[in-house]
Amino acid sequence: MKIAVIHGPNLRLLGTREPEVYGTDTLDDVNRRLAQTATELGAEIETFQSNHEGEILDFIEEAAKRVEGFLINPGALTHTSIALLDAFLGVQRPFVEVHLSNISGRERFRRHSYLSGAASGVVYGLGVQSYLLGLRGLVARLGDRS
Ligand code: DQA
Repeated sequence: MKIAVIHGPNLRLLGTREPEVYGTDTLDDVNRRLAQTATELGAEIETFQSNHEGEILDFIEEAAKRVEGFLINPGALTHTSIALLDAFLGVQRPFVEVHLSNISGRERFRRHSYLSGAASGVVYGLGVQSYLLGLRGLVARLGDRS
């Protein structure tokens, strides 16, 4: 089972970006831990990060031809991008939305997600564990379908 992991804008700064909010793990650390969990679950991941909305849309369209589902931390695009929602609706692949921080407990503008209504599930507030639990949930969901 192949899954694409997408990290949205600014997530390449993990480790040094507001560590009191996002922790001290780098993006490489997160990807390494995801790969370990994927192996444990008998799945395979490919990872992608971009600061550019259009590049993420192009990636979703291309990757949907080779993966069964997506794990995404959309970063700030969560709160702004109808285009990202439409990309997932368009490719008809299950996706799980994750966030390191507790987006419900921060500024008001972070409380709304354009994606969450269409997601198979949403995990937030647990740091790197949000990604790892999100991956487990997605693999379980995909397994239920086959
Ligand atoms: C984030 C939360 C978003 O509000 C923010 O814009 C991010 C990171 C998180 O992982 O907590 O870039 O998605």
